[in-house]
Amino acid sequence: MNLPYAEPFRIKMVEEIYQSTREEREQWLKEANYNLFNLRSSHVYIDLLTDSGTGAMSDKQWSALMTGDESYAGSRSFEQLQKTVEKITGFKYLLPTHQGRAAENVLFSVLVKEGDVVPGNSHFDTTKGHIEIRKAHAIDCTIDEAFDINDLHPFKGNINLEKLEEVYKSHPKENIPFCLITITCNSSGGQPVSLENMKAVKALSDQYGIPVFFDSARFAENAYFIKKREAGQENRSIKDICKEIFSYGDGMTMSSKKDGLVNIGGFIALNNEEVFRKASNFTIIYEGFITYGGMAGRDMAALAVGLDEATEFAYLESRISQVEYLGNKLIEYGIPVQKPIGGHAVFIDSLNFLPNVSREEYPAQTLGLEIYKEAGIRTVEIGTLLADRDPATRENRYPKLELVRLAIPRRTYTNNHMDYIAAAIKNVYERRDEIAKGYKITWEPEILRHFTVQLEKA
Ligand code: F0G
Repeated sequence: MNLPYAEPFRIKMVEEIYQSTREEREQWLKEANYNLFNLRSSHVYIDLLTDSGTGAMSDKQWSALMTGDESYAGSRSFEQLQKTVEKITGFKYLLPTHQGRAAENVLFSVLVKEGDVVPGNSHFDTTKGHIEIRKAHAIDCTIDEAFDINDLHPFKGNINLEKLEEVYKSHPKENIPFCLITITCNSSGGQPVSLENMKAVKALSDQYGIPVFFDSARFAENAYFIKKREAGQENRSIKDICKEIFSYGDGMTMSSKKDGLVNIGGFIALNNEEVFRKASNFTIIYEGFITYGGMAGRDMAALAVGLDEATEFAYLESRISQVEYLGNKLIEYGIPVQKPIGGHAVFIDSLNFLPNVSREEYPAQTLGLEIYKEAGIRTVEIGTLLADRDPATRENRYPKLELVRLAIPRRTYTNNHMDYIAAAIKNVYERRDEIAKGYKITWEPEILRHFTVQLEKA
């Protein structure tokens, strides 16, 4: 008999979580103005809001915390981190930041100006926010297959080269600061980009003299998919694949809260000395001195270990198999999900799940609220609320898909939790015909509204 796959770790510490009643949850939702971000974590049984900063650190990371060097300048922990980042990515200049969006802020302060366009594959919302706040535009060049949830394309994060070339041809070079490849592509469902596609994007961008940057929050998960799915890559180590990935870029921004396996942190890494010098100034203004940039020495020490662990195959196999396990259960129950299952999350297609709720009443948000009411599971809307309003017309921007994301924290929940989640969603699916009304907005901010928007029943 073949041995089943099992986790390459055992659990050393546990945290109690509270299982609430349906009545309690109905009340808490009302108090939260039907925004799951407003719930207290103690009111959540299984928290799938995000995989960002919510994972469990290893004993080696906890030990590294104790060795952290808290010197303001020239910290030993910075050196450890710099060496690890260079070993994994090949980039020699490192600027730590307090998290991924801070890395975007620093880098874009150097590179993005009013009137610019930044092509890429479904930019993440903070990334888009940092582009739009500078009165520039993010142009989505993701392949069309990404928006058909049943298309089994193995690399649905890929960039369509024709769409990209169209951007390069229709805008002056000085208005295209860089092309941004997000690995894995969070907004299209945690979907990977192939090495072949990255190589082709780099070649095309070189031809037009445009730099390529990676938004690398989940780069190790992307490397795992390359090893598993791309012809000729199956015998390579994850670290070897990572080196090749980053060889197709001029630099990267990183949210260490994902594939850094830490609870807070981020960085910029690159090779261009001039950009590094300019970005150093913005790091000092916004984040802190260039050898800590908003991170404690101990956090940099834990991150150096985390990056090493996250780029090991056994860890990634366990991580991504768990996400797939949940996805396959949902598929077995007939629930419409983005396929193939992504690296960090399962994405449910709410337009298919709740056809009776109109788009004006936010079907993905409605489904997320129903799942919470059913079983105390917190998810996140990746739909019209997240897509925000058009900055010019102030109209709702309806994205191609209205998704509910079940993001799985790393090394945190067991497969029993996955079974519980799947059963809860099956129960909601069985009563889907009764759900006809959604929600309406009672208050919202100017941008990034999904974090703080307030709603009531429509
Ligand atoms: N880029 C991607 C692809 C992301 O998914 C995120 C964060 C960021 C950048 C920003 O990083 O949070 O450290 O400032 N994604 C989280 C999520 C919030 O839930 O997907 P950050």
